[in-house]
Amino acid sequence: MLETRNVTVRFGGLTAVKDMSMKVAPGTIHSLIGPNGAGKTTLFNVISRIIEPTSGEVLFDGASLNGIPSEKVVYRGISRTFQNLQLFRNTTVYENILSGLIHEYRSREIPFLPGAGRRFTEGTRDRVLEVAEMMGIKDRLNSMPQSLPYGILKRVELARALVSAPRLLLLDEPAAGLNNDETREMDQVFRKVKAAGVTMLLVEHDMNMVMEVSDMITVMNFGEKVAEGPPAMIASDPKVIAVYLGKSDMGVRKRA
Ligand SMILES: Nc1ncnc2c1ncn2[C@@H]1O[C@H](COP(=O)(O)OP(=O)(O)OP(=O)(O)O)[C@@H](O)[C@H]1O
Ligand SMILES: [Mg+2]
Repeated sequence: MLETRNVTVRFGGLTAVKDMSMKVAPGTIHSLIGPNGAGKTTLFNVISRIIEPTSGEVLFDGASLNGIPSEKVVYRGISRTFQNLQLFRNTTVYENILSGLIHEYRSREIPFLPGAGRRFTEGTRDRVLEVAEMMGIKDRLNSMPQSLPYGILKRVELARALVSAPRLLLLDEPAAGLNNDETREMDQVFRKVKAAGVTMLLVEHDMNMVMEVSDMITVMNFGEKVAEGPPAMIASDPKVIAVYLGKSDMGVRKRA
């Protein structure tokens, strides 16, 4: 479904990503892991078209994404969340989710401004309710973001990414800042999203989450692929263990 082919990214003299080729199979949760500075975010940004690779290309359903601006990848069926929450503060959860459909309306028009509402059909409202239900935030639709706990806000952001019915969802550290309970809830949310047929690519440091939810894991170090395989294989791979050596047991914390 998604493929990176020999992607290299250089920042001046520094090679952040080197000749990275990987494939994400449809219907799977695929995680990209590695120590700090390994190049995960850089590769992720290449996939979501925020960064132009120095060489190589990204294909989605066999078609190259090269040259497509990042705000247009949503038309291909790709959606993403950000590492740091990027929600509108002064408007409701409902409208925040709705803003995930902004591309379907006039570009740069905020859908909840006066006058814009008419263009949103009943179907749009149903779609918002559907994703809110899936994320377990249906009772929060009229709340303002600042009144809600961080774990709920992360799910609002996920709902916004899902409202456009993407086939591929890119998640940048979805567990960052969550406590143990919230992280476990997030595991469940991912299972639901997967059951709905959405493929997910996850950049994540929480190794418990990665081992728990991933079908496939790609490990990077110094910009290059070190290993790739299902969780059990990765957890016992000597090359992977060497990469994480001295880094507190792959960062795996015991969950309470
Ligand atoms: N815009 C940039 N300009 C220059 N160097 C950069 C830029 N972005 C990233 N780098 C460098 O590229 C390398 C890879 O960074 P990247 O952020 O992709 O790592 P990462 O695997 O996401 O790390 P972390 O787990 O800490 O988020 C690092 O050495 C980083 O300092
Ligand atoms: Mg990063």
